Amino acid sequence: MMADVLVTGGTGQVGTSLQALNWPEGVRLYAPLRQELDLSNVASIEAMMKSREWALVINCGAYTAVDKAETDSITAWQVNAIAPCVLAQQAKAQDIPLIHVSTDYVFDGAKTTAYEVDDAVAPIGVYGASKLGGELAIRTSGARHVIVRTAWVISQYGHNFVKTMLRLGVDRTHLKVVGDQYGCPTHAGDLAAALQMIALRHLDFEAAPTGMYHFANAGSVSWHGLAKEIFDIVATNGASVPVVEAIPSSDYPTPAKRPENSRLVTDKITKDFGIHPRDWQGAVADIVAALRQN
Ligand SMILES: NC(=O)c1ccc[n+]([C@@H]2O[C@H](COP(=O)([O-])OP(=O)(O)OC[C@H]3O[C@@H](n4cnc5c(N)ncnc54)[C@H](OP(=O)(O)O)[C@@H]3O)[C@@H](O)[C@H]2O)c1
Repeated sequence: MMADVLVTGGTGQVGTSLQALNWPEGVRLYAPLRQELDLSNVASIEAMMKSREWALVINCGAYTAVDKAETDSITAWQVNAIAPCVLAQQAKAQDIPLIHVSTDYVFDGAKTTAYEVDDAVAPIGVYGASKLGGELAIRTSGARHVIVRTAWVISQYGHNFVKTMLRLGVDRTHLKVVGDQYGCPTHAGDLAAALQMIALRHLDFEAAPTGMYHFANAGSVSWHGLAKEIFDIVATNGASVPVVEAIPSSDYPTPAKRPENSRLVTDKITKDFGIHPRDWQGAVADIVAALRQN
């Protein structure tokens, strides 16, 4: 198989993880840097899409600064909604599939159980609204597409909660962490492996399943519970760790409101693609171990 795959956001957590995977011979990933592909610029995206005969596009690029998006909403909408719109338009014109990563933030978090793919969307901030714009642009484009919503992405790369906790834990004896928001932590490497399986199915088979999916590691926890898990792992080596206190979100005000419930039901991706997410605890342990080796 010879296939050129365009990966956007190649310097991010998910994009880096995708490139770290082994791909079958003949599948060549191309992940241009921002200087070569600016997702806030329509002409730049069109030029990249027309620059060669792509077999497939995986859109991992996004404006992910949730708080900054509240005041920088035009850029957030350009990158999270217009860029997917342009990618989808071009994918349709070239008759190639588009795989797109979206977010639990399209939901308001008011549901008391985990979110199904068809649950009503109602974002409570600019980031979630702009990501929903991207979903809608793709869904109405006529392009063959798979949208994978994920949540609470963590990894050894980039900026994320695990790295922040480990950094703060070095010189703090006491940490306050929000205890009333629940979600499914997701290893970027596990998500990348799921995206790879979907991509390979689509490269192999034009009628592979399309539509909306959820992927997150199995189980759920609060940010406070996640912090405790991280420090429990660190403490097994005899290292001293901070006391982690649970606080309500109201004690940790941020410019953007976060959903209280970010849990995602992942049954559909299992049924259609045979992807079985492992427990979040194993995922966290692997990330802490990888960071310790660095
Ligand atoms: N992180 C989470 O907790 C989370 C949760 C749910 C869903 N998601 C979704 O998962 C996907 C991947 O997230 P991630 O955690 O891997 O994100 P990330 O680490 O923040 O990476 C974002 C990527 O997008 C690129 N990018 C941003 N603006 C750009 C622009 N104008 N032009 C070109 N590239 C641009 C960044 O490039 P630079 O390096 O040049 O900035 C970077 O490669 C996104 O769709 C995100 O919405 C993430």
